Amino acid sequence: MNHYKGKTAVISGGAEGIGFSIAEALGHQGMNLVLGDINQEKLSQAQTKLQQQGFPVATQKMDVAAIDDWHKLADTAVNAFGKIHMVVNNAGVAAAPGPIEKTNHSDWRWVIDVNLMGVIYGAQVIIPHIKSHGEGGWMINTASMAGMQGIPYAGSYTATKVAVVGMSESWAVELAKHNIHVSVLCPAFVQTRIHLSGRNRQEEYVDRASSKDPQPPEDKTNPAKDLVENGIAVDIVGKRVVEALNDKELYIFTHPGYRDSILERAKQIDAAFERAEKSPLLKDIEGAEPVQFM
Ligand SMILES: NC(=O)c1ccc[n+]([C@@H]2O[C@H](COP(=O)([O-])OP(=O)(O)OC[C@H]3O[C@@H](n4cnc5c(N)ncnc54)[C@H](O)[C@@H]3O)[C@@H](O)[C@H]2O)c1
Repeated sequence: MNHYKGKTAVISGGAEGIGFSIAEALGHQGMNLVLGDINQEKLSQAQTKLQQQGFPVATQKMDVAAIDDWHKLADTAVNAFGKIHMVVNNAGVAAAPGPIEKTNHSDWRWVIDVNLMGVIYGAQVIIPHIKSHGEGGWMINTASMAGMQGIPYAGSYTATKVAVVGMSESWAVELAKHNIHVSVLCPAFVQTRIHLSGRNRQEEYVDRASSKDPQPPEDKTNPAKDLVENGIAVDIVGKRVVEALNDKELYIFTHPGYRDSILERAKQIDAAFERAEKSPLLKDIEGAEPVQFM
């Protein structure tokens, strides 16, 4: 049975890259697609490409870091298709990697506002719409492998992606009783234009105090460029998301080769617990038992 047919998905950052790939895959499942994106030109191109495949599509220019824009996106979806069943919190940016002292505060604020507040606003605005009709639905949040393991020289990006994984785990439990399934997509490198994120930097996050634009749109010096360009093909990602949704997965992985590295992190954490267990300071203390959350 196709659980998706005739239902409506709202996808942020849907104009290109991973968001477009997810939109296309959901279109093939028979969903109505509502794309939100900061780039009007790419949004129109995406709409045309999806409509040419026969998918019902509505679009709304929006900035995920502005909650009012999320309300506009929700209105667009409801006006076009009546109800919303799925939110894909996908829009994200990456500041060029760099050492702690060289990462300026404009970069930090930009990455946090888009990658973290963007997801929070998306959840706060769209989830009430999904709850309202009682038919259940889905929330998919695009994090990253950086949400599973800290990435050197990418503190701001890592901070937001770890947060998105954590929020997804939290919301998965909270929303299960409303029959809303939550997944968190954690890719490693995918061939998109993420290394050129500066093209979408809003004016308020440009560091005017700096002698040069912090990340010129066509920054060929971004060390992530080669990694992204050698990543997996983007059209696989959307298909993989549908496959994992069918299996009701919480964590959606696209790069199985990273398994050992994440396992190593888990082993390090386990070893740290073992040392804590052996610490004379912590032996037999009260209040250290695990608490069961709802
Ligand atoms: N490409 C990778 O290697 C990779 C790996 C792991 C995770 N991700 C994550 O995947 C998601 C999508 O990134 P991508 O790789 O497709 O990059 P991309 O730059 O190709 O696409 C990002 C899309 O989001 C839009 N966008 C950017 N800022 C926005 C804003 N403030 N409001 C609304 N839309 C905005 C862009 O216009 C674009 O359409 C991001 O959350 C990113 O962190 C990417």
